[in-house]
Amino acid sequence: MSITRTLNEFVSMRSSLDEIESQNGFSECPLPKINGDFTGKDIVSMDQFDREDVDLIMSEAFAIAGAEPRRTRGLLWDKVIASLFYEPSTRTFLSFEAAAKRLGASTISTQGVEYSSISKGESLEDTARTVERYSDLTILRQGKVGGAALAALATEKPIINAGDGVGEHPTQALLDYYTILREGNNEPESLTVTMLGDLKNGRTVHSLAKLLSKYGTRLNFVSPDELRMPESLIKQLGDDSEIGLQTSCLDEVLGESDVLYVTRVQKERFTNNDEYERLKNHFIITPEVMSRAKNDMILMHPLPRVGEITKEVDRDKRAVYFDQVENGMYLRMALLARVLGRTVIPASILGEPKGVRRR
Ligand code: NCD
Repeated sequence: MSITRTLNEFVSMRSSLDEIESQNGFSECPLPKINGDFTGKDIVSMDQFDREDVDLIMSEAFAIAGAEPRRTRGLLWDKVIASLFYEPSTRTFLSFEAAAKRLGASTISTQGVEYSSISKGESLEDTARTVERYSDLTILRQGKVGGAALAALATEKPIINAGDGVGEHPTQALLDYYTILREGNNEPESLTVTMLGDLKNGRTVHSLAKLLSKYGTRLNFVSPDELRMPESLIKQLGDDSEIGLQTSCLDEVLGESDVLYVTRVQKERFTNNDEYERLKNHFIITPEVMSRAKNDMILMHPLPRVGEITKEVDRDKRAVYFDQVENGMYLRMALLARVLGRTVIPASILGEPKGVRRR
């Protein structure tokens, strides 16, 4: 972050982050809000965004997706973007990499703790401080709630949180919302979005619930009792959010859903493998389930899927999870450009997001 913090502030931040982690709870993100200006900001949590900030990134993403390559390919020609991924990733890592390269930036990266000095005992803060000496922005995925905030507070240059354990995944929420605007059939204010699966440990649904609550979208949460959306997060969504049902029965809400957002049971977060085995196949979306959903519902999943949507469903026009994958690249191009102070939108036409719907 760009403001210098005193050592005391930093130490107290560190202990409060340890506390957050030990409680597996949520509290307001300590980093500055976006406030209409992304330049130089860390992107750690959806808490930093107001609705206008989300709208701005949507406009940029629609503009970038529709722009001729000659307008985007040199945008970040002078920038070096670093990726530090200490948990597995296919889409987030590669889409950031593709986004950076399509904007003309150079990239440097390490994937896997075993290949970094963290395996020698180096702290995340020291690693982040080192990497910022080589680059203009760091994309960070690591396993601790609050780790991205900690790295952001330890550095001057922007950090983008690409997943902090069971905490948040703000860029996934932004690409999910972009997908809802692009592939869906309604305004966010009048939508019903049903989130299904491991709502306790799934960081994508934590960030997406925070984002959609800013628009007053009606949210249903469907999960086994053991994997419910954390109470602390629901409290934090506040009065603007419209929580519909919290249930373990999909049929109670399937028929009213405009978006069904399915997630994987997060095996790596379980300490008891028997419990994982018992819960992993609780929900399976098949063509038969889809036959009971609205004709214009969209079916989303952040991927990877490990059995919770059968592959026969892929032929259903309502399945948009591979569109989500592509949309993630445009969204991340938009975010990288904005955080590094660039845009493809001429100042004169900045306004409401203008979606080009595919369907
Ligand atoms: C998600 C993640 O890493 O949180 N994947 C992704 O980034 N697309 C979801 C998951 O791993 O289940």
